[in-house]
This record gives sequence, C-alpha cells and structure tokens, in this order.
Amino acid sequence: MDGNGRWAAERGLPRIKGHEAGAEAVKACVKACGELGVKYLTLYAFSTENWKRPREETEALMALLEKFLREKTDEMREKDIRLTAIGRLGDLPHSCRVELERSIAATSNNKRITLVFALSYSGRAELVDAIRLLATKVKNGQLDPDEITEEIVHQHLYTNRWPDPDLLIRTSGEMRVSNFLLWQISYTELHVTKKLWPDFTEIDLIEAVRDFNSRIRRYGAI
Ligand code: IPE
Ligand code: MG
Repeated sequence: MDGNGRWAAERGLPRIKGHEAGAEAVKACVKACGELGVKYLTLYAFSTENWKRPREETEALMALLEKFLREKTDEMREKDIRLTAIGRLGDLPHSCRVELERSIAATSNNKRITLVFALSYSGRAELVDAIRLLATKVKNGQLDPDEITEEIVHQHLYTNRWPDPDLLIRTSGEMRVSNFLLWQISYTELHVTKKLWPDFTEIDLIEAVRDFNSRIRRYGAI
C-alpha cells in the first residue's frame, strides 16, 4: 500500500493525512475483496524498515492501526472476516498489540475472508525467523537436515496456514518488491498501478483482477 505520503504532499497536507486517507482505502478494498470472492488479502501495512521513519510518523501510524482495530472489529466479526497478522509483532507498542490480539481472537472463527496485516514485517526477517526455528529443531535432534524440503520451509513461515498469493498489487508505480513475502511470491502475478494507495478504489481492484485473469500461468512448464 504505497503512496500515502505523496498523496498528502500533492495536496500540501502533512504525511499523516495521507495515512488517514490510506486507512479509508483499506476499508473500501476489504469490502470490494469480499464482493469479488477473494479469500485471502494480505496488506503490507508497516515494514521492519519503516521504523527508520521519524518517530512522529511511526507513532501516528501505530495510533491509526489501533483506531482501525478498535472501530472495525465488531464489523469484521459480523461480516465473517478473520483478521490475523504476520511480522515481528513484539516490536509493536503494547497498547497496539493488545488491540490486535483482541481483534484476532474476536474474529478467529470467521471464514469468508482472511485479512492478514503485515506489521513490522519483512520477507528477510521472516526467513531468518524460519531458519532459526529449523536450526533449533536440528540442534535438538527433532529434525534431520536431509528432511528439509520446500514444504518444511513453508511450515515454518509466518504464512504457514495459507496458500501463496496469486496476485500482488503494488500501488504508486514503484517497480520493487520491497521485502514483501519473498518466499511466497515465487510464482505470484505482479500488477503495478500508478495510482497512489489512497486513490486506489474498487474499480482499480477489478482492473487488477482482470489483468490477472488475462495471464497464462505455466509455473515453469510449457
Ligand atoms: C505507504 O505510504 C504507507 C506506509 C508505508 C505505512 P508511504 O508512506 O510509503 O508513502 P510515500 O511512498 O511516501 O508516498
Ligand atoms: Mg513509500
């Protein structure tokens, strides 16, 4: 979800106003995914690298996340949306974690859509965490290195309960992956739009899905 800062700058507004508009775009996008029958939506809300931003901005983003969770949990429960999160969640401020855990627990029986917030997430950090788990199992004699397969690696990722994404949408025109789901996107179709995230609407989502539907996926075969 890139481009909140530029969206604000274009309007002569502080960056946080862009993030607030971005939060509105999140609500619209989740609703549109529900209507399209998307089963899993992972939103890259905050990267491990985003902690390098000025404290004022990271605090505002965390406050915005907390507000979103406080306001939207009941609605997610009613609309059969299961909220969950990936990343180094221990990095989040305590009050934010409390709210996040509350939302996750409140929606844990829901089935229609799984909404995954990537928070203090990076693909490399996820791989490091998986490697630590695997190395510990080897050290303790619970795992033979020769038994490590792609499936075993998958089982040790934060995303072990879900399929790999079919489609990755990047807004604001940047042609970068920026440390997102590095293992999982091996065969994901990429869609880059110039739209800044706060301007991303249901129409843009439909356009991305239409683009996806035009792709021929061979997974290395012919
Ligand atoms: C994405 O918008 C939102 C977060 C990273 C939280 P940016 O804040 O990266 O916006 P730009 O890239 O400065 O426009
Ligand atoms: Mg950016």
